[in-house]
Amino acid sequence: MGNHKIQWHLIMDFVCLVALGVAEMLIHVIPIKPSHRGFFCDDKSLQKPLQEETVSTWLTIVVGFSVSISVIILCEAVNAKSKRRKQQLKVGKFNIKCGPLICTPTAWQRRTFFLLFMFGFGALITNLFTDMGKVTVGRLRPYFIAICKPNATLLNCSQGFITEDICTGDPVDVLDARMSFPSGHASFSTYCMVFLALYLESSMPTKQTNLVKPFLQVAFLSLGLLCSLSRIFDYWHHWGDVLVGMFLGTLVAFFITFRSLRLFSSPPCPKCYPTDEVDFVSRNPVNNSEERADLNGDNQFPL
Ligand SMILES: *[C@@H]1O[C@H](CO)[C@@H](O)[C@H](O)[C@H]1NC(C)=O
Ligand SMILES: *[C@@H]1O[C@H](CO)[C@@H](O)[C@H](O)[C@H]1NC(C)=O
Repeated sequence: MGNHKIQWHLIMDFVCLVALGVAEMLIHVIPIKPSHRGFFCDDKSLQKPLQEETVSTWLTIVVGFSVSISVIILCEAVNAKSKRRKQQLKVGKFNIKCGPLICTPTAWQRRTFFLLFMFGFGALITNLFTDMGKVTVGRLRPYFIAICKPNATLLNCSQGFITEDICTGDPVDVLDARMSFPSGHASFSTYCMVFLALYLESSMPTKQTNLVKPFLQVAFLSLGLLCSLSRIFDYWHHWGDVLVGMFLGTLVAFFITFRSLRLFSSPPCPKCYPTDEVDFVSRNPVNNSEERADLNGDNQFPL
């Protein structure tokens, strides 16, 4: 059962997650200056008015996480109740000891945990890539001139391309106005909603209805799309930023669901069940398929 062994593979997974989380946090904590890009004096695309955000950053994060997490937990809990799934998930008792704490998660709880773990991992990857783009590219936001408030005496439009730092606005806001590419709202909301749509596709019990699943998928995808589009009509991003953000989020969502979680591959695939103890991902194929062959040990699930 491995109850008394130290779960090294788990510890390594957490280390990876934490390392990624720390890297992501450092980008925000350390005030890394984005690339300093110049602009054309007559560039109309940078002279949009500064408006309130329709969808704030906090709203995006809170809705993205809470909707995704609650849908996954709900769906897994309902699945666990089904008779067929119960048989599939029949595995031995499994204890996790952590000092005086002992918990005995059931199979569906372990599967849910693994799903959420990988979901969070993907969200971190999405944000990390987004922030790397923001800092290295340093594209100016559509409202850049409104925030920058260029010093009129230094602004010499006959020079054409202006590279000197002539902004008189709040330096913190000016730095933020230099991080347009790609859109973080677009990449995060698209990641969450594409992940959810793919997850529902693989794991939602449908019974006799034909339209409930696609309806929910369309609803979630619309939510992500609206959040992304709001960045364009708010003049907070150029359309290219949003397009690339959506592409990035979609890519990571597909990677996590297909490659890491293997939601759609039908076992047995010999490579999915290596005896090697270390390979976490392939040793733990979370699989929805109703035709799951057999579960013969604890190693099918994390924890
Ligand atoms: C604009 O630049 C000039 C010349 O460097 C300087 O004297 C002036 O104080 C600046 N104005 C503002 C509002 O910063
Ligand atoms: C603006 O730049 C042009 C070309 O560099 C120069 O001839 C002109 O004197 C400058 N005007 C001001 C007000 O600095």
